Amino acid sequence: MLYLKSANFEDIEKEWQFQRDIPSEEDSFINEYHDIGREDFNTVLDTIIEQSRGVHLPEGYVPQTIFYLWNDNEIVGTFHLRHYLCESLMNGAGHIGYYIAPEYRGMGYATNGLKLILEEARKTIPEKEIFLRCDKDNTASLKVMLNNKGYIHHEDEYKYYVRIAK
Ligand SMILES: CC(C)(COP(=O)(O)OP(=O)(O)OC[C@H]1O[C@@H](n2cnc3c(N)ncnc32)[C@H](O)[C@@H]1OP(=O)(O)O)[C@@H](O)C(=O)NCCC(=O)NCCS
Repeated sequence: MLYLKSANFEDIEKEWQFQRDIPSEEDSFINEYHDIGREDFNTVLDTIIEQSRGVHLPEGYVPQTIFYLWNDNEIVGTFHLRHYLCESLMNGAGHIGYYIAPEYRGMGYATNGLKLILEEARKTIPEKEIFLRCDKDNTASLKVMLNNKGYIHHEDEYKYYVRIAK
């Protein structure tokens, strides 16, 4: 069974291993915690949970919840949900970011995970549309968005800016 669960201490061992193994950057998905040690991840997880509640946010940041996508007892991916847009997000990365582990790609996890996070987004965000963005050469990610009724709102040299009705 596929489900999303927000970052939490109960699942820390699997969350740590998953987060540690995500590269620092892949196709514009950034992981600040690549290669993080187990001890340091305690503090990181505290921060992740606090920031989802709007506490200790860096200057200019909006609250974000990090969800892990679970298939039964294994984490297969992660989805980030920004709770509302500031100007930089509106013109940039938008509400949602996602990553699926390489060994689980091409099996529909991102498409189905985006469907689940859109249900969360519809409960959380105040804007009338859900904003997303991907690199123009990231065919798989664009398909994931289009599979979920996304449309290309505009583009620039490197990126597609996609929106999905709420
Ligand atoms: C992009 C990414 C999330 C896709 O995850 P995924 O679970 O493999 O996606 P899905 O299985 O739902 O596949 C979606 C579509 O892309 C296609 N696809 C998958 N991998 C592909 C590839 N390498 N090249 C072209 N198409 C690809 C699938 O066939 C599917 O097409 P369909 O809808 O016509 O059947 C994953 O590759 C990833 O995590 N990449 C690194 C981080 C990233 O790019 N994040 C998104 C930033 S915007």
